[in-house]
Amino acid sequence: MNDNTAAIKEINELLGDRERKAYVRSFGCQLNVSDGEKIKGLLKKMGYVFTEDEHEADLIILNTCAVRESAEDRVFGIVGSMKKLKELRPSLIIGIAGCMTAQSHIAEKIKKSYPQVDIVLGTSAINALPKLLLEALHGARFSADISEYDDFSEAAEQVRDSSFKASVPIMFGCNNFCTYCIVPYVRGRERSRLAEDIIEEVRGLAASGYKEIMLLGQNVNSYGKDLENGMSFPQLLRELDSIEGDFIIRFMSSHPKDASNELIDTIFECEKVAKHLHLPVQSGSSDVLRRMNRHYDIEKYLGIVDYIYSRDPDFSLTTDLIVGFPDESDEEFRETLELIKKVRYDNIYSFIYSKRSGTKAAEMPDSISDEEKGQRMRELLSVQRVVSSEHYKRFIGKTMRVLVDGVSKKKQGYLTGKSNEFIIVEFEGESSLIGQFVDVEITDAMNWAVSGRIKKGQ
Ligand code: SAM
Ligand code: SF4
Ligand code: F3S
Repeated sequence: MNDNTAAIKEINELLGDRERKAYVRSFGCQLNVSDGEKIKGLLKKMGYVFTEDEHEADLIILNTCAVRESAEDRVFGIVGSMKKLKELRPSLIIGIAGCMTAQSHIAEKIKKSYPQVDIVLGTSAINALPKLLLEALHGARFSADISEYDDFSEAAEQVRDSSFKASVPIMFGCNNFCTYCIVPYVRGRERSRLAEDIIEEVRGLAASGYKEIMLLGQNVNSYGKDLENGMSFPQLLRELDSIEGDFIIRFMSSHPKDASNELIDTIFECEKVAKHLHLPVQSGSSDVLRRMNRHYDIEKYLGIVDYIYSRDPDFSLTTDLIVGFPDESDEEFRETLELIKKVRYDNIYSFIYSKRSGTKAAEMPDSISDEEKGQRMRELLSVQRVVSSEHYKRFIGKTMRVLVDGVSKKKQGYLTGKSNEFIIVEFEGESSLIGQFVDVEITDAMNWAVSGRIKKGQ
């Protein structure tokens, strides 16, 4: 446990009434964004206010992602450009947090080649931020804590980016070691939070009017397996479903190896649980899945999909896919295209394979050229566009309950929101509806969204 009360008090005394602005930017997945909100919670305790403009910040924290090389390159580019900011304002403090810092070669590179960086904060060391910040304020050239702590910053107040959508991490880390993935190395082993803490947090959020609760974990449906006498994930869902209030419960990401019929039955039974499942498949080829160490084959995956569709043929499924895994043959890639057509996903999140040093796949021979990988990605996206524009037509003539997210960037006077099924919905309406549920009659389907009009009488 990292007690930071003394350091927080000392910073408040040191800076007194002086105005202090912080710019916090998170990259990567929603778990990382949630960590960014915890970092903001700590900074708020130290008297910081937040700015979206790094030029006026006294403190910059980049909360990084390491999942693909491009994500890391982007951060290095931003840190490089911040050298100028530091020259203009030497009192500026720059900190790097998040998954990149957990790789020792990256932490070394930052220390050696980016002297503008003052603080390096490991993924489980968020509570050490006040101590490191205090050292930097006292003039230390470089302060770092990349140790692995197992407390969850339960007490950390979050400064949430939205007033109606909240993410709630229910577990941290990953045990799966998919051969391409860096996450188990930078986030450690699976640690589930206690069910009572999660239930209390969700109850508080519902009472303060939050309309969407997103439960997060790298392998969210293995929740509780590491706890002695812990609740299973379906049990937790049922408990959360019984909390009073008008809100929707979502969760991600579910691993197919833990997607039991009980989980699926629970989704159908629980009124507040969204009728949507994000079920990352990664590849349509059982051979590739074996080389990826995914612990299921396509037959097992399709068995889950069949069970879902046997209960509701219109159920909404989305997935993650990797194109160009080492030595992926043309035939194996075509199996992925076939799978997309068979499952009829509403949306896919697809990535070109990125070699991550330290993972097993980084040692595998790879004869596929970058051009070929790019070509496969384009083909995959064009197949998906056809699938989703066809599949979205099933909503025409139906009424969807939509949580209004914001105004449309494309059409003036229009709003956008997400339906229970996690489909983007566009419709005409007043911005005062943002943050509320509305019923929308669907009249049209595109390949990325559906559109319609608000039901009369609302
Ligand atoms: N834990 C989740 C799961 O297993 O589905 C996903 C977590 S990961 C942060 C999100 C997605 O990034 C993965 O589903 C995978 O498709 C993609 N990904 C992970 N490592 C990758 C790599 N080395 N190259 C390309 N995509 C990768
Ligand atoms: Fe990475 Fe696999 Fe864990 Fe997901 S399940 S975080 S892809 S190792
Ligand atoms: Fe990236 Fe770390 Fe998430 S590597 S995807 S920010 S867990």
